[in-house]
Amino acid sequence: MKVVETIDEVRACVAEARAAGKVVGLVATMGALHAGHVSLVNAARASSGLVVVSIFVNPTQFGPTEDFSRYPRTPQADIETCRRNGADVVFMPGVETIYGPGGKTEVRVRDLGETLCGRSRPGHFAGVCTVVGKLFNIVAPDRAFFGAKDYQQATIIRRMTADLNFPVEIVVCPTVREADGLAMSSRNAYLTPSERQQATALYESLCLAEWMIRQAHPPADEVIAAMRAHLTSRSGGAAVDYVQIVDPDTLQDVQSTSDPVLLALAVRFGQTRLIDNMRVG
Ligand code: PAJ
Repeated sequence: MKVVETIDEVRACVAEARAAGKVVGLVATMGALHAGHVSLVNAARASSGLVVVSIFVNPTQFGPTEDFSRYPRTPQADIETCRRNGADVVFMPGVETIYGPGGKTEVRVRDLGETLCGRSRPGHFAGVCTVVGKLFNIVAPDRAFFGAKDYQQATIIRRMTADLNFPVEIVVCPTVREADGLAMSSRNAYLTPSERQQATALYESLCLAEWMIRQAHPPADEVIAAMRAHLTSRSGGAAVDYVQIVDPDTLQDVQSTSDPVLLALAVRFGQTRLIDNMRVG
């Protein structure tokens, strides 16, 4: 496995693999790797001849009051995780490699980036799309692997890929959870022991909603009220950012739960913002 920092080096690795007829798979991450990331590396390994994992804490997707500087950084452990799980190349660029001086271009996907997390994180998805677009141009993968844990992100990246004609197949892999249902996230490391216990309320409220919808397809408002009540009673210290039921393709609010829907929520424990979602139907 090679660990590289420059664009030329990663391009050389990819060119060599492509000359040998290999399919190139990309797993883009911000590091602090956990089993959710590893599931993407495994999926990439299963269908690609060359697996590239990028590790880059992308400053442009963090708001001015967000956790960019304290975001967990564990490069040595991440390199080991990549090695153990069969990655071929780890690309760990510096900020100046990705964002040279004078950069003025950003990629913005209208509408899809303005709902759900986009409302409380203005500019976040433009930062994500800009860096993922750059990674697609730098690495030029055949396939790129993303997690359903960040459903809105995956939906926006799919749209961007189609709109900008990137010749990349987007593969979305299921959310990996802890034994008690909490979706794995690098940000779980911020939780105090009592917040960690309360955080199980996120997945519980999704399961409650799924059960309600399967029973009787009540209107979305009723389901949302039940989810909010559960979150408030079971996670005393948390502030609900949003609970929404949306169309899984357009991400716009729906009232009927008879057709397939996406349940999505974001909750804050102090400074720590956790998200989760579930597709139903
Ligand atoms: P990061 O949060 O490190 O996540 C990298 C990838 O791992 C994303 O596709 C995310 O959806 C996936 N992932 C995270 N937790 C997961 C879980 N519990 N189960 C399955 N997949 C999971 O998402 C980002 O980084 C950044 O926005 C990035 C796309 C790298 C752009 O900077």
